[in-house]
Amino acid sequence: MIIILGATGYVGSAYCQYFESRNISYAALSRKDVDYTQLKPLSGFLKKIRPEFLINAAGYTGKPNVDACEDHKAECLAGNAVFPGTVQEACRQAGVRWGHVSSGCIYSGTRPGGGGFREDDPPNFSFRQNHCSFYSGTKALGEEALGYREIPAEDRPLWGHDSSPNGYIWRLRIPFDHHENPRNYLTKLIRYQKLLEATNSLSQLHEFVAATFECWEKRIPMGIYNVTNPGRVTTSEVVDLIRKTGVCTKNYEFFDNEDDFMAKAARAPRSNCVLDTSKLERAGIRMTEVHEAVEQSLRRWVPAS
Ligand SMILES: NC(=O)c1ccc[n+]([C@@H]2O[C@H](COP(=O)([O-])OP(=O)(O)OC[C@H]3O[C@@H](n4cnc5c(N)ncnc54)[C@H](OP(=O)(O)O)[C@@H]3O)[C@@H](O)[C@H]2O)c1
Repeated sequence: MIIILGATGYVGSAYCQYFESRNISYAALSRKDVDYTQLKPLSGFLKKIRPEFLINAAGYTGKPNVDACEDHKAECLAGNAVFPGTVQEACRQAGVRWGHVSSGCIYSGTRPGGGGFREDDPPNFSFRQNHCSFYSGTKALGEEALGYREIPAEDRPLWGHDSSPNGYIWRLRIPFDHHENPRNYLTKLIRYQKLLEATNSLSQLHEFVAATFECWEKRIPMGIYNVTNPGRVTTSEVVDLIRKTGVCTKNYEFFDNEDDFMAKAARAPRSNCVLDTSKLERAGIRMTEVHEAVEQSLRRWVPAS
């Protein structure tokens, strides 16, 4: 039995679909059933159920987008920075292995030299760097609280540092798939009036779900993994694919630059970044090259009814 936290959410429901398609027994836990944000109820539940594995797809994402996190800071901190540590402790107490859906949005740009950020690179879009959205800052803190990355002595948190993981941190980045849905990156590009040109890593949602569960099935070493489709893609390359596949052939408008975007369309700075996927590949877990994955989703596009 696999437990999914946050199963009512965009990512959590993709896990439910995946387990159903493979006939794998799972329980979708909602805060309405068990207040899993608190240590005692969660560890008590896990000790009783004794699941094989737990997936944490819960967190505070802000609606309609991350700008809402700037107005709901306490909830955002609780859901993203504190809560992962609670899940880790509950799993430790119950002897359950687990995986945490984190985010690549703790980085901005590329590594010096132009490559993608690796799992052990310190976040550069975080409160420590004093440059981030509130949401990204809390996601970086959430990873730091789990203590899986070796942190230089001067940066180590006061509450201690434990680098022996009892789970996985999986970094998801800008999810998309073939279903028109306001949470799907491709839908966002199609619906937005004006776009920001940027270069990013992306994750095809269902490939992400399958790859993360494969980590557990193959029992690859626990720790941090960037789980994105290999390669990088620009906004205009994705727009070209949207037009080429005929999903939407309108003329797209672009902001002049990031300052223009910030002045007209956003409150918090956005993370645009490239992640390195070689650690996952070395572990034998493959995902489709990013341009190909985007084109495949567009070719199977299912409009909202
Ligand atoms: N969507 C993205 O673009 C994206 C990208 C990268 C990473 N992520 C990460 O992936 C995880 C899941 O994201 P998602 O897009 O599926 O989010 P979502 O649709 O907002 O769902 C999150 C789920 O988390 C649960 N939850 C627990 N504590 C919460 C709180 N304080 N506030 C709100 N919900 C809370 C809720 O489930 P119940 O009420 O049923 O318990 C909710 O359905 C998050 O950690 C997010 O940061 C998302």
